[in-house]
Amino acid sequence: MKAKIVFQTTNGNNRAIAERFRKNLVVLGHDVSMHNVYDVLPEELVGADLYVFTAPTHMQRAPRRIRSFLKKLAKSGWEVRYALVATRLPGSKGDHEPRTLDMMASSFTGPGHVRMGGLFIDSKTMKGPLESGWEAKVDAFLADILSRL
Ligand SMILES: Cc1cc2nc3c(=O)[nH]c(=O)nc-3n(C[C@H](O)[C@H](O)[C@H](O)COP(=O)(O)O)c2cc1C
Repeated sequence: MKAKIVFQTTNGNNRAIAERFRKNLVVLGHDVSMHNVYDVLPEELVGADLYVFTAPTHMQRAPRRIRSFLKKLAKSGWEVRYALVATRLPGSKGDHEPRTLDMMASSFTGPGHVRMGGLFIDSKTMKGPLESGWEAKVDAFLADILSRL
């Protein structure tokens, strides 16, 4: 299977999440590429069996860059089976954040767009680190998706 992972990050947390997906998929023998959203164009990512997008919550929203990237990708007309991950602050500060995943998914309204799952990972402070046990959360999330592909 061919997988493409795109992350946005300010302090490295979403890069670490993307890297976790990448390593797990490589170990399983998949063909994986991983991209910083600032270094790649949607049209360069044609032809994946699975896309993974991971981004932080910023100002109670999905960041503009990843949203505009996803919007362009969705307009490409390709089949896009995708999994979404977003980081957020824990507890009441992060309670508004179901929105981050919904915003990331909002462009994918076409018949070939299949949302395989969405995952939140808490960040202990604005800069991280990520919640304890986040790696196991990623592993379980990915295993579930792969079982349904
Ligand atoms: C400028 C900025 C704004 C943020 N705004 C929010 C927010 O509104 N809600 C929230 O839950 N987390 C917020 N966070 C926390 C980030 O989602 C969290 O720290 C994330 O892990 C950062 O990931 P990164 O290192 O990949 O950028 C914010 C972080 C930054 C740096």
